[in-house]
Amino acid sequence: AEVVILPTSAEAGDLAASAIASLVSRRPDAVLGLATGSTPLSTWRALAARGLDLSRVRGFALDEYVGLPAGHPESYRAVITREVVEPLGLTPSLVRVPYDDGPLATAGERYEAAIDAAGGVDLQILGIGTTGHIGFNEPGSSFASLTRVKTLTEQTRADNARFFESLDQVPMHCVTQGLGTILRARHLVLLAFGERKAEAVAGAVEGPVTASLPGSAIQLHPHVTVIVDEAAASRLR
Ligand code: F6R
Repeated sequence: AEVVILPTSAEAGDLAASAIASLVSRRPDAVLGLATGSTPLSTWRALAARGLDLSRVRGFALDEYVGLPAGHPESYRAVITREVVEPLGLTPSLVRVPYDDGPLATAGERYEAAIDAAGGVDLQILGIGTTGHIGFNEPGSSFASLTRVKTLTEQTRADNARFFESLDQVPMHCVTQGLGTILRARHLVLLAFGERKAEAVAGAVEGPVTASLPGSAIQLHPHVTVIVDEAAASRLR
């Protein structure tokens, strides 16, 4: 992987935004893989500031919670609408999340088919969890896994409790792109900020390739850009 260490998340977001901007200038209907959570916010902010026409861009979210009431503001459908689709001027019908209408049992297959029909993901934005997860592929996930239902670890539920009123409101389950799905994207851009991510970043970039640290799957991919701040880079050798 190419590893870029920058002083601030704003500069990191600007670099990720320039990768997206150059892709979209070549391919106005590019397919973006979208992460939620705090990490990509500086990327969306920097991209919005460029004022590009992104109306033909297609988007596939990495994951979606299972079990939230319809329209819940912390569902990733709602988060992606609020933080990505609206500020960037994407076309709502061109952006999908892995669990929406339709039966849960076939959500994974339908999502994989939709990604295939779009021609695959051109550029996948990734964050990384303190457990080393990418998407919601928690430790033990198969490198060949495709979009499916997963159980969130207690650590990840606690990490995400900040978005909810209390820990017990954080869903237990999700539908997430698999590691195999993520590895099929043509370019992976993994962002991470802060000391809390340092260990996961070191494991993903330099550690053994192991299912105990799902982010280490990026080492199997030929085109990866890792963009981190100094704190998140602090355990790299
Ligand atoms: C979000 C996702 C997760 C997050 C990770 C980091 O769609 O798939 O892997 O990227 O949990 O979350 P933040 O950025 O909130 O620290």
